Amino acid sequence: MRQVVVTGGGTGIGKAIAAAFAKCGDQVVITGRRPEPLAQTVAELGGSVRAVRFNAADPKQVEQALPELPDVINVLVNSAGGNTDIGAANPASLSELAAAWRANLDANLLSAVLVTTALRDRLVHGGAVINFSSIAAHRPGAGSYSAAKAAVEAWNMTLAHDLGSDGISANVIAPGFIDDTEFFRGRMTDVRRAALRAQTANGRSGTPSDIAATVLFLASPGASHITAQTIHVNGGAWSS
Ligand SMILES: NC(=O)c1ccc[n+]([C@@H]2O[C@H](COP(=O)([O-])OP(=O)(O)OC[C@H]3O[C@@H](n4cnc5c(N)ncnc54)[C@H](OP(=O)(O)O)[C@@H]3O)[C@@H](O)[C@H]2O)c1
Repeated sequence: MRQVVVTGGGTGIGKAIAAAFAKCGDQVVITGRRPEPLAQTVAELGGSVRAVRFNAADPKQVEQALPELPDVINVLVNSAGGNTDIGAANPASLSELAAAWRANLDANLLSAVLVTTALRDRLVHGGAVINFSSIAAHRPGAGSYSAAKAAVEAWNMTLAHDLGSDGISANVIAPGFIDDTEFFRGRMTDVRRAALRAQTANGRSGTPSDIAATVLFLASPGASHITAQTIHVNGGAWSS
């Protein structure tokens, strides 16, 4: 039985990852800022899943959460994140632009860096850290979100070399379009969905369970020599 922490585990991809580990018989802690999705996911997934509420991008909140997180951790999945530009007004000044860029860097890069650093000494030999990038880091169009996810990939290489000496892997998953998440804040249209599907080789959207299956593999003993990598899960919409 593994001890697993999934940030952003109340919804979307993180929820599917929590469900997959719970199904394996593991103990799972999910985290997020809003109490409602966390409570609902705990109720749905049953007794092996519990929630700890904190903002992963706020150093003080991460520190305060530490006593509630497991002392020994086998798998850390940093799924918390998203494109903070979605639904936001266009910046009207350099100050607003700076704030918008910092929001995406906080949500996607700092959230993973802070939680991983805070839990570093609780990760055990044979463990795995899985971070999240996006296809958006490899294509034009998403500005500060793309840059923040590219930074996750760059940081992960250093992380892998730090953790490798303790027999712990660190990898990044870069999903393409994944349906049935809160990522698009209700703004995904049928036309856009069809366009994104048309970019793939297999003609379908990704699902949270596609990503959960990749996470289970990366956390398995058979994947222990895979580290410092970015794994693309996008149906062929972009080739690495
Ligand atoms: N869906 C896609 O098509 C897609 C594609 C490529 C990459 N991704 C990446 O996949 C990851 C999971 O996203 P998703 O698609 O599952 O979207 P989602 O349903 O919106 O899930 C994101 C989760 O992260 C949590 N979160 C966000 N910021 C946080 C913070 N500062 N502190 C703590 N929790 C935070 C959210 O909960 P609270 O708001 O309650 O905190 C939410 O539960 C993200 O890193 C995203 O960038 C998604």
